[in-house]
Amino acid sequence: MKSKCYPYARIYEYSKLCLLLFSYELHRQVRLMGKSHHLSVAAVDPGAVKTNIMREIPSCLSRMAFLLLKLLGLLQSSETGVCSIIDAALAPAEVSGVYFFGGNGRTLSSSALSCDTKLAKDLWVTSCNLFQELQMAS
Ligand SMILES: NC(=O)c1ccc[n+]([C@@H]2O[C@H](COP(=O)([O-])OP(=O)(O)OC[C@H]3O[C@@H](n4cnc5c(N)ncnc54)[C@H](OP(=O)(O)O)[C@@H]3O)[C@@H](O)[C@H]2O)c1
Repeated sequence: MKSKCYPYARIYEYSKLCLLLFSYELHRQVRLMGKSHHLSVAAVDPGAVKTNIMREIPSCLSRMAFLLLKLLGLLQSSETGVCSIIDAALAPAEVSGVYFFGGNGRTLSSSALSCDTKLAKDLWVTSCNLFQELQMAS
């Protein structure tokens, strides 16, 4: 019998896309509420950092993946990785709907797909429906 592999990488990729779509839509929804809601929304990417993130895969594979990232010069120290998170936490209240990456207050434009407002709205509506269903069931 052929064993089925769980597509970790693909699911991780989709989860990050959804996170960005949802964050940008949340930012727009908050804006629609008006200025009385002092809430800012930011997406943060620490870059590649050696953590427990690959706990689900065999340790020999995760060691190899981190080694490869290091050899490619892409692996950052946790001190560097945390900078974008600190940037988001300390950003002025008016900074919202942005994607922090790289430290020193740097923000990036994420992919065109992650900025698709129609897709974001669909995700928002689907999430709200799921949340309501869960609320009614509990
Ligand atoms: N590491 C990277 O290279 C990298 C790059 C880009 C983005 N990110 C993102 O950064 C975020 C943090 O990742 P990380 O690298 O710090 O990963 P991590 O080492 O796996 O840490 C994740 C944190 O979430 C907790 N956690 C994991 N599974 C959980 C569960 N089922 N229920 C409750 N808590 C749970 C962990 O708790 P325990 O410590 O108790 O397990 C830990 O505090 C993730 O969203 C990741 O996708 C990471």
